[in-house]
Amino acid sequence: MRIAVLVSGSGSNLQALLDANLSGEVVGVISNRSDAYALQRAANANIATCVIKHSAYPERTTFDAALHQQLLEWQVDLVILAGFMRILSASFVQQWEGKMLNIHPSLLPKYKGMHTHQRALDAGDRTHGCTVHFVTAELDAGQALAQGVLNIQPNDTAQTLADRVHTIEHHIYPMVVEWLCSGQMTYQDGFITYHQAPFSEPEILYFNS
Ligand code: GRF
Repeated sequence: MRIAVLVSGSGSNLQALLDANLSGEVVGVISNRSDAYALQRAANANIATCVIKHSAYPERTTFDAALHQQLLEWQVDLVILAGFMRILSASFVQQWEGKMLNIHPSLLPKYKGMHTHQRALDAGDRTHGCTVHFVTAELDAGQALAQGVLNIQPNDTAQTLADRVHTIEHHIYPMVVEWLCSGQMTYQDGFITYHQAPFSEPEILYFNS
């Protein structure tokens, strides 16, 4: 599998993918920001990079077309969103249906969108975590594949939760990417299999820290 990773920021999840012993190959990294540290991480690993600035495209669809073009050029099989802070158009998402993953810092379907750690604290939740899911046109709503769960401690803040969730992300994202790279998980016409059986519920991993 030829993998492209789309980023906007630090790229610690990109790093986790690069450090993992994947059976696929990260062939390119696309950022919508030229100052994303993730680009440096890619360069350090001798991986091709491309900056496609959203500000250069007045329409979302033309920005997405530029992304799509680059992905085709790299002959990508799998698109990994790793802190990519742009909403993608429905037509772009459809073209990559079943081939595009995202990681979101909450236990979806709870807390789609932003400020997930504070929202979990404000709600008095006992647990929190992150979700790897297929990307669909509706934000943070595609089939969840795996979730990493932690217990919220009395002294947790949004920052401590963000740090702990990040560490969990670095475990579960490469794990799910490898399921697809190795063929343990397949997607066809909206139908997902895992170890040749129909897949319905996300795998839940508990991290007691
Ligand atoms: C992660 O928290 C991820 O859940 C969210 O964006 C953040 C990316 O962090 N989608 P990094 O750039 O991989 O460090």
